[in-house]
Amino acid sequence: MKIKRIGILTSGGDCGGLNAIVRAVTYRAITKYNWEVYGIKEGTTGLMTRPLQYEKLSLKHFTGNLIRQGGTFLGTSTKGNPFRYPIKNGLYKDYSNEIIEGYTKLKLDAFIGIGGDGSMKILKKLADKGNLKFVGIPKTIDNDVDSTEVSVGYDTAVEVATNALDMLQPTAASHKRLMILEVMGRDAGHIALNAGISGGADIILIPEIKYSIKGIARHIEKIRLQGRNHALMIVAEAVKKENGKKAIVKHGDGQVRLGGIGSYLADKIYKLTSTETRVTVLGHVQRGSQPSPRDRLIGSAFGIHAVDMISKNKFNRVAVWQNREVTDVSLESILNKSKTVDPQDPLVKTARGLGIYLG
Ligand code: F6P
Repeated sequence: MKIKRIGILTSGGDCGGLNAIVRAVTYRAITKYNWEVYGIKEGTTGLMTRPLQYEKLSLKHFTGNLIRQGGTFLGTSTKGNPFRYPIKNGLYKDYSNEIIEGYTKLKLDAFIGIGGDGSMKILKKLADKGNLKFVGIPKTIDNDVDSTEVSVGYDTAVEVATNALDMLQPTAASHKRLMILEVMGRDAGHIALNAGISGGADIILIPEIKYSIKGIARHIEKIRLQGRNHALMIVAEAVKKENGKKAIVKHGDGQVRLGGIGSYLADKIYKLTSTETRVTVLGHVQRGSQPSPRDRLIGSAFGIHAVDMISKNKFNRVAVWQNREVTDVSLESILNKSKTVDPQDPLVKTARGLGIYLG
């Protein structure tokens, strides 16, 4: 099929590097293939609503400020699954037909969806139902998409978390405190492990490795006996409490999010060690920061590759980063499982080699 027009959308939580992807896609599609590029607003919402929400992209999107901007200028949505979209009074509606119709109305020949594994699942289901030509690009600060060494946005999040530890250390030392930094990552401990090592943490807690409060207390005592009056801990948001439950926050709109494990631990540690402890919950600054050089670079490589995939009629596939280059795999291969930290990961060994407590 001859391609004339493609769509691009960002779906799920934003992160650093999304604009770099859209910029690369736009440039490649226009200059190499002479295609039109339509940026769809707010994920699939832009195709679901009437009038359709979109913006025709042009080379001005390449020459401007986009590569260095955080967030996604197209907008995104975490509002839910279009097959079961929340409407009023706790009811749901299936909007998949509207989205498929929107794709046809916009005369798209193919589309690129940038998302994590949750978004990819939904986009694949839509593509299957409507016979849409779909190519995926993985992004998520959590870095839990399988079959790719990295997803766009992860490196920026690690950088932000490392910077936070850099800023917490002086105040920890000034006040002789234990500073706990709670980071995102959903069920994967990649951000905590990588930033923890880079930022010189003494304790790294990740969901994949079981800890004990007594073990943490013993480690803090050891640090004290070694003559240091302060310590740094980084904890991933999905680390469980001693009762095996995750710490959660309920929002006004009924949504439940991970959060609060840092405060829980601070309290427990104080009771055992009398160490003065303060907690920083890093939150969405991990997502909204200016993208790191590596996220700009990988995002650009993914963008070019995704457009080339369309030109070769390679659909229902996703661009991935393997062995220091971009390639692609079938969508199924990333949807089967989430990539969490392997407790035997060489970086876990590195952390233990540095005397860091992990559990
Ligand atoms: O998946 C990305 C992520 O930032 C997680 O690390 C975090 O748990 C979640 O999204 C937060 O979601 P929201 O933006 O809806 O609060």
